[in-house]
Amino acid sequence: MTHQIAVIEGDGIGQEVIPAAIDVLEALDLDLEFVEGEAGDAVKADTGEALPEETYDLAAEADATLFGAAGETAADVILPLRDAVDSFVNIRPAKAYPGVEAVRPETDLVFLRENTEGVYSGHEDDLSDDLSTLTRVVTTSASEKLAEFACDYVDDSDAHDGFSVVHKANVMRKTDGRFRDGVVGVAEDRGVDTDEVLMDAFATRVCLDPEQFDVIVCPNLAGDVLSDLAAGLVGGLGLLPSANIGDDNALFEPVHGTAPDIAGEGIANPSATILSAAMLLDHLGYSEESQQVETAVEAVLAEGPRTGDLGGDASTDEMTDAIVDAL
Ligand code: NAI
Ligand code: MG
Repeated sequence: MTHQIAVIEGDGIGQEVIPAAIDVLEALDLDLEFVEGEAGDAVKADTGEALPEETYDLAAEADATLFGAAGETAADVILPLRDAVDSFVNIRPAKAYPGVEAVRPETDLVFLRENTEGVYSGHEDDLSDDLSTLTRVVTTSASEKLAEFACDYVDDSDAHDGFSVVHKANVMRKTDGRFRDGVVGVAEDRGVDTDEVLMDAFATRVCLDPEQFDVIVCPNLAGDVLSDLAAGLVGGLGLLPSANIGDDNALFEPVHGTAPDIAGEGIANPSATILSAAMLLDHLGYSEESQQVETAVEAVLAEGPRTGDLGGDASTDEMTDAIVDAL
């Protein structure tokens, strides 16, 4: 069966790292069909719209989407795109690789972040010249759905045997209380081990000793902030992939943005996007090929050639060619 992949480069280094990832996918010679869509600052300047309807529809209908990054219009592009694929969980691995200088080289974490509600559900109001409010939305159904996914995730892998639930239910008793009860309740029913960590304490503990954690299940904002913190522990943004998973569809993207300071120079690190493509392969059922891609990236990170952000002097193309060769 042919899988249709929507490919949205976006702006800046999105136009350099997405072609690199496509080179790697094409080298595997699988039954994938790539269909390109446009989005981002340049499209908005041309047409007035950062995310044209045909790009939204393309992502909604494809088997999976590979997205680069958008610049100033990022929120107008990525939030609707995550909605187009109806994604209820954002998977963000943060893993240190041999050969890459990391603050905590022993870090190997996976964040499973609730991706639809919390403080990102868009209910903000200005009530007076002096007062603005935000409504935090938490449902039992979304919390339980995330927990079911997390239980499947740890059950399907020999590497994981439970997860940590990170929340702040001691203060946000109703919203995070509901989140905690939903997640822990499902884990208990499924016989999956959990431990609970308050999110502020987690921030300190993960910096001091990341090895005490493995899979982390958390609300939307906490997952956004704490996974970026973990990115700092493993040596930077050029390495971090992510997946937004829905019931019938999914979108894969590097955690980084358009890197305007280096865009156009051909020196961006393609690893985060190539690792996102590896997650895409795994999602489509190509788990062996996914592992091969990750192994090839690992080998090149260890031995070079490496891009400038990793202390090397290779171009995006040189590093990508080395990854294709390692495959
Ligand atoms: P950024 O991730 O684009 O860049 C931060 C720093 O990391 C820069 O010094 C950059 O050169 C470096 N960097 C990032 N990715 C790299 C890579 N693959 N190789 C080598 N170096 C890399 O974040 P920043 O500067 O905060 O945002 C720049 C633009 O990107 C903004 O317009 C922002 O709105 C947008 N953005 C878009 C996102 C998305 O579309 N999902 C996510 C984050 C930011
Ligand atoms: Mg973020």
